[in-house]
Amino acid sequence: MLKSNLLCFLLILMLSVFTGGADAYFGGSLDRCIYSTRDYSDMVYIDAYFFNKIIDVQFNSTVGKFVGYTDRGVRTAENWNNNPDILQQERAEVDRYCKYNAQIDDSCVRDVINTSLVSVKPTVKITSVKQPHGGHQAMLMCSAFRFYPQRITVSWLKDGKPVTSDVTSTEELANGDWYYQIHSHLEYTPKSGEKISCMVDHASFNKPMIVDWDPSLPESERNKIVIGASGLVLGIVIAAAGLIYYKKKSKGRILVPH
Ligand SMILES: *[C@@H]1O[C@H](CO)[C@@H](O)[C@H](O)[C@H]1NC(C)=O
Repeated sequence: MLKSNLLCFLLILMLSVFTGGADAYFGGSLDRCIYSTRDYSDMVYIDAYFFNKIIDVQFNSTVGKFVGYTDRGVRTAENWNNNPDILQQERAEVDRYCKYNAQIDDSCVRDVINTSLVSVKPTVKITSVKQPHGGHQAMLMCSAFRFYPQRITVSWLKDGKPVTSDVTSTEELANGDWYYQIHSHLEYTPKSGEKISCMVDHASFNKPMIVDWDPSLPESERNKIVIGASGLVLGIVIAAAGLIYYKKKSKGRILVPH
């Protein structure tokens, strides 16, 4: 459910404000846990220390140590990186702090969402798009309509495997009525027997929704053909009736003796 939901929970650990004359100084530290997967496999812990909006030193769990960005920060980073206790504690924060809190956070978000009050499932459709310049490539558009909240991921699968190239997507477009829509385009060279699907993940789903592309004619096209064929049949029937009527009349006229 929370896949693609980038949640950051922020905790200001320490704030200090000094006032001297007209100037004010502001220092602080910001802990961030950044992730976008359900299983927290991409969880990153960032512990940044800043002064007057400038980051002095920062721990990034992907890097695994402190990095300094100012003279003072570089010295601090050196000190802290040489302290095994500090380093060990920071490295443990991904599990101890981030994943632990993400679980609590996610479960309460899930509870709210499960009441269906705050999320609305998208309607998902795949359509074939005519290429403006012709060409051999075919283009499909996967559209998700009327969903809430805004964050969503739309991706493409070819025989169940993710496709990343030749994909372009719009932003989530606001309808102006709390709902959003999004359109993702896939350019591809059609191959017979290949299954193309669109995968949509949204907070309103328990698991991603997969819609398969049906290369047979879309309903509107089928309707056009049905209407056309009916018209043709009707035309033939009327023409035949007219011909029979004409034949009968002309026959009758010939047979009448004068
Ligand atoms: C953390 O480090 C990784 C690897 O260097 C980098 O890709 C990522 O952007 C960093 N995150 C932040 C918030 O600085």
